[in-house]
Amino acid sequence: MSDVDPASGSHDEPGAPPVPGQVPAVPDGQPHAPVPSVAHGDVIDHAIENPVFITKELSVSYGSALAVEDVSLSVPAKEITAFIGPSGCGKSTILRCFNRMNDLIPAARVDGMVRYHGVDLYGNDIDSVQVRKRIGMVFQKPNPFPKSIFDNIAFGPKVLGMKGSMDQIVEEALRRASLWDDVKDRLKDNAFGMSGGQQQRLCIARALATNPDVLLMDEPCSALDPISTGRIEDLMHELKETVSIVIVTHNMQQAARVSDRTAFFIVDMGSSEEARIGRLVEYGPTDRIFTNPHDTRTEEYVSGKFG
Ligand SMILES: Nc1ncnc2c1ncn2[C@@H]1O[C@H](COP(=O)(O)OP(=O)(O)OP(=O)(O)O)[C@@H](O)[C@H]1O
Ligand SMILES: [Mg+2]
Repeated sequence: MSDVDPASGSHDEPGAPPVPGQVPAVPDGQPHAPVPSVAHGDVIDHAIENPVFITKELSVSYGSALAVEDVSLSVPAKEITAFIGPSGCGKSTILRCFNRMNDLIPAARVDGMVRYHGVDLYGNDIDSVQVRKRIGMVFQKPNPFPKSIFDNIAFGPKVLGMKGSMDQIVEEALRRASLWDDVKDRLKDNAFGMSGGQQQRLCIARALATNPDVLLMDEPCSALDPISTGRIEDLMHELKETVSIVIVTHNMQQAARVSDRTAFFIVDMGSSEEARIGRLVEYGPTDRIFTNPHDTRTEEYVSGKFG
């Protein structure tokens, strides 16, 4: 990770043209139009203005096994998008396409298109280190480094050669993750001494420290109690002022509470047990997905009849 382009900061101005090897500048402070519901079957929502991601016919295979097929959707900026669906339908797999984490799985092959602010995320000239700086990820189980609280946050900015006072960078990230007051007097303590909920907020702070444009969260609350879960959900509401969020969750109430839009996936059982392929069934504003789904499979899932 040492081959980071030191010039990255110079292309951060909103509206700057895409530069080979660089992910595009983040449009700042652009208000987002309300998003009308999509027509059934039209999962590419052309009504979304200023999408942060657009996927078209996105498929991922592991070795010879097709895991998820033909996912086409647009993810709006500065909103929370939830991925729901039964285990194995490809939610994590699609989420990992958004910051090229599947690159780290040798057997994974990604086909189709992912555009990030209009730029092909899988183009030959895209620097995946820059991608992961812009598009942070938080996992199911809190995974702090075996280091101090301070060093957990400072790690990414140091690797990326970010300029400015490290004390300030660490404080700001901890404040944004609502963790500063909890830990300001014990920054040198090992992160493993924190509670599970605090550790997860530390991981969110760590992701925020590199000033990402997008936060990908894969079941971030599934190991947490309801109070810690509530704090993370409150935090997500605050963060969406500045960051676009995609969250995978098995918790239907959580998807309904926190998200603006919901994508429902299924596992399509093919002719044989091996041919289990994930597919996107329906995608739209969360209110509509939960109160007026167009597909009976969505209706059965959100009402708890299967899954
Ligand atoms: N690293 C991997 N190697 C091989 N197959 C994988 C790998 N990761 C996922 N898969 C397969 O891809 C399919 C989709 O898995 P994925 O983890 O994306 O589903 P998911 O919807 O996130 O499930 P869960 O809700 O259980 O987390 C599954 O059939 C799974 O076995
Ligand atoms: Mg998963």
